[in-house]
Amino acid sequence: MDKLLIEGGVPLAGELAISGAKNAALPLMCAALLTREPLRLANVPHLKDVATMLQLLGRMGVAVTIEESDGVLLHCAGDPLPEAPYELVRTMRASILTLGPLLARCGHARVSLPGGCAIGARPVDIHIRGLQAMGADIRVEHGYVEARAERLHGAKIVCDLVTVTGTENLMMAATLAEGTTVIENAAREPEVTDLAECLNAMGARIAGAGTDIVTVEGVARLHGARHGIMPDRIETGTYLVAAAATGGHVRLTRTRADILDAAIEKLREAGADIRVEADAIELQARGPLQAVGVHTAPYPAFPTDMQAQFMALNCIARGTAVITETIFENRFMHAVELKRLGADIDIAGATAVVRGVAALDGATVMATDLRASASLVIAGLVARGETLIDRIYHLDRGYERLEEKLSRLGARVRRVR
Ligand code: UD1
Repeated sequence: MDKLLIEGGVPLAGELAISGAKNAALPLMCAALLTREPLRLANVPHLKDVATMLQLLGRMGVAVTIEESDGVLLHCAGDPLPEAPYELVRTMRASILTLGPLLARCGHARVSLPGGCAIGARPVDIHIRGLQAMGADIRVEHGYVEARAERLHGAKIVCDLVTVTGTENLMMAATLAEGTTVIENAAREPEVTDLAECLNAMGARIAGAGTDIVTVEGVARLHGARHGIMPDRIETGTYLVAAAATGGHVRLTRTRADILDAAIEKLREAGADIRVEADAIELQARGPLQAVGVHTAPYPAFPTDMQAQFMALNCIARGTAVITETIFENRFMHAVELKRLGADIDIAGATAVVRGVAALDGATVMATDLRASASLVIAGLVARGETLIDRIYHLDRGYERLEEKLSRLGARVRRVR
């Protein structure tokens, strides 16, 4: 199993291009199931999760052509095989995003239940209830969601809580439904907006994406389109935190600050200088960092996917930070690993209290999930001596060429087998 060896203590410096967003790419790829015509995506990130999704879509009968400069052409000309098997779904929960499109296109779908994951139970009941409201007959049997509907119809759906992939699944299903669907308490994440823009380019009629009420007027069919995937705001935020924590100076290109306001605000509060351009962000660390409290909540509030990275930053900041995680029930697993590096952290339920220490010391640590891994990388970059991070396959799911990108910024990091 691959490990990452980091020799800490080098301030990150230089310029880096940010990749396309994983969490936009995955639903966008599933949108190819909605049409017989080709969907051409650009700025597709090279990630394990993207490869898994391509494999899943390929099994369903989608022809996949990898094109130059991060392009992928997806063409589902015939009737797709509407089944997502457990062995693929269990490695990537986002496979549930095939449920809505398959049901809308084929009238039935059999998609494995994702099951729990390291950071929490993560049920899909809101996806299911929304599709039922649109007329689907759904049974959950033998670990699979079996859904049938001759043609889905429009409905008013009030989501019990804000769910990103739930909103995306229902929005995709509604594009081909008879009549109008209104999704209330919808997720406002920019990835939902990116998906809506692509679906509209395919002929869908979606209004309100990016607000908490999304209205979808169903159409008889969708056609092909081209779409450039938005930049990855979590990758962007992770490199900004890494630069701040190491006392560095970086300029990130091919990205946007407006999708990351909450995290940028926190970095400024911590004492970093941030300059924003139309498609670039520059961060320069100025003196010691101050502890910053973090409270995760749905967009536009502070993202749960940036919580672990800010915990790493707070480990070496001046003062005490209170971090509250409201989205997932078990998302502090990085804390025990950070403590192995000398961090001072107390956890009580959904709250972590992080008291800054003067320095961290390298050690062997274990990655437990994608963003927890990112926090260990940041801590390793800051720590004195060597940090060895085990189980970095989590990182490969969501960070494109991480060690190459970090090396380009001067970090001493390499993959060991
Ligand atoms: C997406 C992101 C993930 C991010 C998360 C929250 C993708 C591929 N993944 O995950 O990186 O951490 O949003 O920003 O976009 N819930 C239910 N019932 C449901 C659906 C969700 O109870 O039917 C709960 C979840 O357990 C969780 C909360 O709602 O506590 C939010 O989850 P959700 O927004 O659905 O996360 P994902 O879409 O899976």
